[in-house]
Amino acid sequence: MCPPTYFGVQYATNAWMDLPASVDLDRAMMQWKLLKSTYEQLGHHVELLEPVAGLSDMVFCANGSFSVNGVVLGAKFRFPHRAAEAQEHRRWYTAHGWSRFVTPEHVNEGEGDLIYLPGRGLILAGYGFRTERIAHAEIAEVFACPVISLQLVDERFYHLDLSLFALDDHTLSYFPGAFSSSSQAALAREFPDALIATEADALAFGLNALSDGHHVVLPPAATHLRQVLAERGYQPICLDLSELGKSGGSVKCCTAELRPGV
Ligand code: ARG
Repeated sequence: MCPPTYFGVQYATNAWMDLPASVDLDRAMMQWKLLKSTYEQLGHHVELLEPVAGLSDMVFCANGSFSVNGVVLGAKFRFPHRAAEAQEHRRWYTAHGWSRFVTPEHVNEGEGDLIYLPGRGLILAGYGFRTERIAHAEIAEVFACPVISLQLVDERFYHLDLSLFALDDHTLSYFPGAFSSSSQAALAREFPDALIATEADALAFGLNALSDGHHVVLPPAATHLRQVLAERGYQPICLDLSELGKSGGSVKCCTAELRPGV
């Protein structure tokens, strides 16, 4: 995670960023700290990335890399505003002993568009707004894993992690309207037990959630999704990250999962 020390809405590269925006930095920090302590209470260990002045979106550290079994693919951001974040992530991995860091050739925004299902050794990869489709071949090669490519078609859900999240290796939750019809068909075929979210859930950043297979951390406004999760036996844990939402991100965007391998 990366604290929102220099957070702000200073440019508008997605449908949520409205200029001029007023951001309450103290509130953003309070909300972020609650997310961090929630993870710690759930038993996770949190590593921190040092924030850099001028990089106002660095709190969304999910976009800076993707790691599987000790191999890390760095990010290459779509827009110049965030480009310098990539080297901060690379520096962190290098300093923490991750020796297998690959610098990408094509645009990919890390876990924003890439989801790993460990038990299936499968990667779900989004394209359409940020990550380039051609990057999916690079990703398959770097991780020696099959990749299911999913086309995003709604600019409000410009990253895969705003449109879909995994509860476990076989169960997803997603908003079908975020995907092209052929990607909807692929999802329905591969994940018949999915929890289907509504547009309102997705607009509340309900799919920008993180699950450990039992607890699901998500924003409180995704009321329908919370109920469906509870009905299916998951425990929703609601956290308001509305201040960070002004830049178009929530729980998952603030969280880069580390998969060091064995
Ligand atoms: N303002 C940031 C951007 O447009 C938000 C990133 C949100 N992160 C995410 N994983 N969806 O890049």
